[in-house]
Amino acid sequence: MAITANCTAPAIKHAAASLIAGNLVAFPTETVYGLGADALNEIAVARIYEAKSRPTNHPLIVHISSIDNLDKWAKDIPEYAIKLARNFWPGPLTLILSKTDLVKDFITGGQNNVGIRVPAHTVALALLKEFEAQGGFGIAAPSANRFGKVSPTSAYDVKAELADHLKSDDLILDGGPSSVGLESTIINCTNITPVILRPGAVTAAMINDLLGIQVEANSKANPDFIRVPGLLESHYSPFAKVYLSGNPSVGDGFIALSKHPTPEGAIRLIAPVTNEDYARTLYQGLRLADSKMLSKVFVVAPTGDDIAVAICDRLTKAAYKG
Ligand code: TXA
Ligand code: MG
Repeated sequence: MAITANCTAPAIKHAAASLIAGNLVAFPTETVYGLGADALNEIAVARIYEAKSRPTNHPLIVHISSIDNLDKWAKDIPEYAIKLARNFWPGPLTLILSKTDLVKDFITGGQNNVGIRVPAHTVALALLKEFEAQGGFGIAAPSANRFGKVSPTSAYDVKAELADHLKSDDLILDGGPSSVGLESTIINCTNITPVILRPGAVTAAMINDLLGIQVEANSKANPDFIRVPGLLESHYSPFAKVYLSGNPSVGDGFIALSKHPTPEGAIRLIAPVTNEDYARTLYQGLRLADSKMLSKVFVVAPTGDDIAVAICDRLTKAAYKG
């Protein structure tokens, strides 16, 4: 497994050919790094599950280069979903849509719908375009971390997560740090109205503004509730225990906006100025806690109806429930 630092045109060509040959290619996106495989190659897709140690009933998002290729993967697409795609793609938004026959059970975990995204990252888009030019249709890619762990936001993080689980022909493309830092917003578009399954940088307010309707959040009380394994109660977890209340003792980690002073003796992990900075650096902060071998991290969660919603979602899932 090699890291490709300079994603020049020949390097992208090589990576696309490697995907076509059935290898795995981890690549940068604006949200987090993904672990990619040819979405039509069952053996390659099986290797994603193996490398992540992920249960096979957890479906994968298929990445495509443009909305123009959407019809290959999805059918009966509601008007509002087209609007969302036109407005937010390329970008941190995944749409769950009714699948076409192209989409196999090994991508969807046997469900009749599929998650599709066009990422907003020059390296990801170049890879997708080249992959399609070489005859590919789409790249299946979950976040490039071991199952249940923190998503990687740099090529170095991917290596730390997966080096022991990738083969010598697999690649990691280095496209610098992810600019959003949290996984995409996932919207279920298989019903009359959209439902947010996972909050992200595309917020409920942004969706409401565009569609002029009140978008709902997924909840077990909702009759349209669909099981999203990312909604497992525990996820995005570092080895350190994460606490959303209480005070750190000497030597414990501390994460909060910069306006909150560091409690005496605590180890400041990140000091973001805005909620966007918070999102971009949160996973780096959690990884830093692990590399410093801290056993506890105390977090002051941000507030607001912007990306703070997504931050709080991930923090709640990372939090210690002992
Ligand atoms: O930002 C992102 O979405 C990143 C980058 C690499 O694109 N990908 C990502 O994938 O976060 P993953 O697999 O780590 O998280 C996607 C979540 C999983 O919980 C998966 O089970 C769920 O979305 N999911 C994918 N397809 C689905 C579907 N058809 N129906 C319901 N849930 C789905
Ligand atoms: Mg993930």
